[in-house]
Amino acid sequence: MSDWLKAGKLAAEAREYAVDICKAGKTYTEVVDKTEDFIIKRGGFPAFPMDISVNHVAAHYCPYIEDDNVLEKGDVVKLDIGVHINGAVADNAVTVELGTNKYRDLILASKDACLAACEIAVPGCEIGKIGKIVEETIGSAGFSPITNLSGHGVDMWTVHTEPTIPNYDNGNPKTLFEGQHIAIEPFATDGVGSIKEGKPCGVYAFLEKKPVRLDGARKLMAQIERDYKTLPFTERWLKDVKNIKFLLSILEKSGVVKQYTVLPEKNKGMVSQHENTVEVGYGITTKI
Ligand code: CO
Repeated sequence: MSDWLKAGKLAAEAREYAVDICKAGKTYTEVVDKTEDFIIKRGGFPAFPMDISVNHVAAHYCPYIEDDNVLEKGDVVKLDIGVHINGAVADNAVTVELGTNKYRDLILASKDACLAACEIAVPGCEIGKIGKIVEETIGSAGFSPITNLSGHGVDMWTVHTEPTIPNYDNGNPKTLFEGQHIAIEPFATDGVGSIKEGKPCGVYAFLEKKPVRLDGARKLMAQIERDYKTLPFTERWLKDVKNIKFLLSILEKSGVVKQYTVLPEKNKGMVSQHENTVEVGYGITTKI
């Protein structure tokens, strides 16, 4: 089995595991820590810090160090999980509603859109057509796709690369080719259908090495480059480093790392998301 398929299988297993442990009363931190441990114990690594985005937050909520948020009954929770095996990346996501059924149709809309889009994502398929089927599937269920979030290509040591996979018909006539790896991730909402940038989320990407004066910051820069390379990481993974928040802020100011932001829906609409990785011509790699 290729590393791409191994990563897909493990990402899907981690997704199912996360669904099992995602319950009202648990902290966000417990769910992500346990799921990331699950991945590491089975021989993979998180390709990015797991996201746990609740209700109107569409994406990129990642528990901070000492985050004490607790899941509540009725929450609509997006669990977005990436795995890499020797750099080969798989990305997948699922939405669960905790103990209620109020948003069943919304959750089904993004699931149906994701599966319909994965089905047509074969060699020669126009990229705009994937967006079209996402838009139509979510629209016919009475909801809106989030148009300023999109799926993406994945590559070795890279979670986001060309092509952008739109969640609406953007008319892109470029076609998919055999063996390409893409993540298809429709978001459905009862809001206006776009996200805005929220607060910084404690997740960073390494940009480039720069001269840094402070010894601790310089050491941290070397550690980040060695351990995460081009993949995103979170302050939570570095919580044992003394003064980590301060050192990260220095690296951020120096342009060594950049920090991502939380992405809430513009109108505080409820949001659901589903995501699979597809090996074009061979199907979904993140299927259970
Ligand atoms: Co993705």
